[in-house]
Amino acid sequence: MTYTLESINAKTWEGDLLFLYGDEAAERNLPLGKKEIELLKARRSEEREQLLVFDRLPYHIYVLSFDSEKNAPECQEKLRRSAARLLKQLKADKVSRLAITGEGVLPEEVEAMIEGLTLADYSFDRYYNKERYHLNELVIDSLYLKAEELEVAQKLWNRIYWCREWVNLPVQDLNATGFAEELASIAADFDEVECTVMDKRQIESLRMGGLLAVNRGSVDEPRFVVLEYKPRSAAKEAPICLVGKGIMYDTGGLNIKPDDYMQEMKSDMAGAATMASVLFAAADNQLPVHLVALLPLTDNRPGFNAYAADDILTMYDGTTVEVVNTDAEGRLILADAIAYASRNYSPKLIIDVATLTGAAVRAISTFGIAAMQEGADNPMAMLKVVGEQVYERLVEFPMWEEYGEYIKSDYADLRNCGSTPQAGTITAGKFLAHFAHGVPYIHLDIAGVAYFTKPQHCYQVGASGYGIRLLYAFLQMQDMIEK
Ligand code: BES
Ligand code: MN
Ligand code: ZN
Repeated sequence: MTYTLESINAKTWEGDLLFLYGDEAAERNLPLGKKEIELLKARRSEEREQLLVFDRLPYHIYVLSFDSEKNAPECQEKLRRSAARLLKQLKADKVSRLAITGEGVLPEEVEAMIEGLTLADYSFDRYYNKERYHLNELVIDSLYLKAEELEVAQKLWNRIYWCREWVNLPVQDLNATGFAEELASIAADFDEVECTVMDKRQIESLRMGGLLAVNRGSVDEPRFVVLEYKPRSAAKEAPICLVGKGIMYDTGGLNIKPDDYMQEMKSDMAGAATMASVLFAAADNQLPVHLVALLPLTDNRPGFNAYAADDILTMYDGTTVEVVNTDAEGRLILADAIAYASRNYSPKLIIDVATLTGAAVRAISTFGIAAMQEGADNPMAMLKVVGEQVYERLVEFPMWEEYGEYIKSDYADLRNCGSTPQAGTITAGKFLAHFAHGVPYIHLDIAGVAYFTKPQHCYQVGASGYGIRLLYAFLQMQDMIEK
């Protein structure tokens, strides 16, 4: 999609046009006849939110009526969702270039609309022989939307695009080694991003018992990728460590996933894809924050020498873990990465993102992130506020010490899944928090939102990139608070 800021005259524009009708002041500028305006007003008084289409063959005028509202994230989210509805209409009308104008509309509302169109327009196309519909060009007429702001947003949307591509790619075409190479080649384009790719031998010498165990049933080698973004503006600051679950495919291992539970498990590396994308977006826009992304990558398979229940692993930090279920693999690779972050970077905060538990989906369905923290009340409070603003919402689960009982083992320091089926999301978070060793820690379980099996809000089927806008906005805010 290309975006051009250009001032246009709605009444003489020759082309397809979207008119955002945010308040009554719009009436004098509507490029419509008197009777049409009356009809529109009557409809609007019955139902504030609606989309009307006026044929102006060969073009169309789309009028989206809504209530403009200052500082209202809900209003912006409604616009993102309307964008998806509009896009269906544009597809039916074969519109590839659209001008956007309006009256009584705030710049953040125009941006939300464009964002919605951008997110909704994404589909995973590369295995289709037939060409699929896309909206190719937006001409944006907005008095107050600044070109620089639009550029920053565009860079973020580009990272969301790539995150979704990676997550949608099946493991046959994107395994741990391939993904590591891809990340290294992107990092090479930045002066301020350093990429270290550790191969199996290096992971062995680091004694990352979790990552190595999960990898044992696979013919593909694991990788441990560390991306560091250290701009001059934040060179002296302790970093924020971003850990992402990178299970390239989760069969469950020897505790193999039954029936259709395995489907969509190509998306089990969404955490890693999200964190890499957040770091690259920060670098694209030169955010003054010091970041380290730590991405353990492997698939989880029941191959020849696969790790088994009853195995006892020694993790990077020396903690021993009894394997109870090979399908609770995410926390094993994350534990090594979190401990590595804690020991080697003295971070001010560790955040991980992971498609970690089916229990998170059962608890809150596909409408947000299940979040937990230890020693990070303030960052968590900030994350919640930001989450409401960008509408990638999270809900905090408790980390009461009683849950610790559920992950005690008879044979080792910890067990890799709870001794009861209750509170599965929390026992996973509790397990991970152990490896942060006192560093303020936030855990984000994105199992419900990383990948949609049905279209939802402004997303088509497949990977969503959910969490990137949240963390990016959080990092932006971080800077404001410190200065
Ligand atoms: N990757 C899955 C979690 C998952 C499930 C993500 C559904 C997205 C949608 C994870 O590795 C897993 O298998 N978790 C198990 C843990 C259990 C064995 C303790 C689960 O949630 O069933
Ligand atoms: Mn699993
Ligand atoms: Zn998994």
